[in-house]
Amino acid sequence: MAKPSHATWGGRFTAGPAELMLQFSESVSFDRRLAPFDIAGSKAHSAMLAHVGLITAKERDAIHAGLDAILAQIVAGKFAWDTKLEDVHMNIEQALTKRMPAAAKLHTARSRNDQIATDMRLFFKHACAVLAEKILGAERALLAAAEVNRDVLIPGYTHLQRAQPVGLPHHLFAWLEMLERDRRRFGEVAAHANWCPLGSGAIAGTTLPIDREFTAKALGFTDAKGRPQVTQNSMDTVADRDLFIEFAAACALFGVHLSRIAEDLILWSSAEFKFVELPDAFCTGSSLMPQKKNPDSCELLRGKSARLQGNLHTLLTLTKGLPLTYNRDLQEDKPPVFDSFDQTAICADVLAGTLGGMEVIRSRCAAAVSDPALLATDLADYLVLKGVAFRDAHHAVGAVVRLAENKNVELNQLTTADVREVHAAFAPDWSEIFDLKRALAKREGTGMPGPKQVARQFARWKKALK
Ligand code: ARG
Repeated sequence: MAKPSHATWGGRFTAGPAELMLQFSESVSFDRRLAPFDIAGSKAHSAMLAHVGLITAKERDAIHAGLDAILAQIVAGKFAWDTKLEDVHMNIEQALTKRMPAAAKLHTARSRNDQIATDMRLFFKHACAVLAEKILGAERALLAAAEVNRDVLIPGYTHLQRAQPVGLPHHLFAWLEMLERDRRRFGEVAAHANWCPLGSGAIAGTTLPIDREFTAKALGFTDAKGRPQVTQNSMDTVADRDLFIEFAAACALFGVHLSRIAEDLILWSSAEFKFVELPDAFCTGSSLMPQKKNPDSCELLRGKSARLQGNLHTLLTLTKGLPLTYNRDLQEDKPPVFDSFDQTAICADVLAGTLGGMEVIRSRCAAAVSDPALLATDLADYLVLKGVAFRDAHHAVGAVVRLAENKNVELNQLTTADVREVHAAFAPDWSEIFDLKRALAKREGTGMPGPKQVARQFARWKKALK
């Protein structure tokens, strides 16, 4: 005969779960990391129960002391987690029960459904703050790299073909824009998390006279004016996993940005470009080829982005098609979220470390940017200012480029006579176009790479990343 059930929900059962079922259904192996949030939630909940008179102040104090002692044990690594007790909630409740009779009252007017929703909202607020801080660290490393290489020019690329010259800081600031959007996105996810689920119960709240606002306040689910924010529909509260998806999406999009930055760095560090030397501390060698120095941190950043996207996809697929409200499937929502958090955190640190040790090879940048063909568009603009329609100017400069190719000379080595044969609007001053400094100084509209604009962006970022 099967053993009777000792689970907290065991009242209506004559037999306990099979060993295989216990092994299959436990989540404590991964949700134990929610313990600090679970305990904070239980403390606020029991404070509320005392506030409305459902437990005594003495019972509340005993529960608080017990929970504090359990948290201390957990932090010290001395807590005996038991997979037979399924999850973090039951492990903690059982430990409390062993300590005091009042523990039997803690779960009054609460379900694990609104409890896990609360734990996770607290987790998301914490995780978003941690990630925003780490991204800020990477942004600062980027700004520092821009600062020491303020005057370095490189070709900008489209289609991975040399396009137009830009200052290196302008390129690095493009990355900064991406990272700053990511950082803000985590702030937005945290704001969405800031609503308290407790009081929603299993699905339909409770008949007991609870005070949801009290609990929300105690847990910091408050608006800018300190007013409590509680979720507005008990069914949605226990069924909703939007936040999980939003959080994973913010991680995945950050991952996409990381991957694009990493790809630029991989190219730049290749012998073909050699614009940068990546730090030894973030590269590895080959077990066979002694000369190799591989950009592994960047390749892993690029690779991890796939994993972050996979986690997002897991959550989307997990949630799609589930009937309202809670279904046990939802227990599978946590591993992808935790993995996205852990990987995003380390990725941000690794990006900061890689950028922090990156050295720019100025001679290689200067050689690449000296290609006069990068200013072909400026030459077309020159003709426009002489009254030529842009389409005609574009065509004429195309012919000039072809002529230089045929003569096997650089664009700026053609004579004025050569170019005048292509278009009569070319005058002797045409060759001034190939002065890089002058070319950049003409790009002073907002968002352009002219020196005044770049100086403005330096000032803006210094202030924003203080
Ligand atoms: N471990 C569960 C989860 O993560 C907690 C909620 C359980 N609720 C339930 N009705 N079995 O989803």
